[in-house]
Amino acid sequence: MFPEALKQDIRNLQGEFPEKRSALIPALWRVQEEFGYISTEACEELAALLDCTAAHVKEVLSFYTMFYKKPMGKHQIRVCKTLSCWLLGAEKVTEHLKQKLGVELGEATPEGKFSLEVVECLGACDQAPVVHVDKTQYGKVTPEAAEKLIQELK
Ligand code: FES
Repeated sequence: MFPEALKQDIRNLQGEFPEKRSALIPALWRVQEEFGYISTEACEELAALLDCTAAHVKEVLSFYTMFYKKPMGKHQIRVCKTLSCWLLGAEKVTEHLKQKLGVELGEATPEGKFSLEVVECLGACDQAPVVHVDKTQYGKVTPEAAEKLIQELK
């Protein structure tokens, strides 16, 4: 069940669009910010608030990889896997992080502290390889530098 503050935020978002359902993407961001992911129950509650069907919410949700359908880590690590980053060592960074965290891609560590995934171009190709940790971007990341980033958050 959404807390009242979240419901109010979603109602406020609706006011910015001609149709309630048009607020779905920003509402999904808001729900993810609140819970860390978007559950089936959250889809149903969003649908009721936005005057659409849960199937519509799930359809939109399944299209975008930046929305999580299952609980992820408190800190989300995203390694760019697109060409510039790949050529400059993103794969080694990813493998190193997988090994250090003991997770496969798309998984969270058992205590829920970190999750690791690979993503398409993050739009900073001149900084390749690029890693995002939560909302912070790091460029020219080596496996050692990536390990240091997670050590600092432990
Ligand atoms: S290819 Fe990695 S940021 Fe563009």
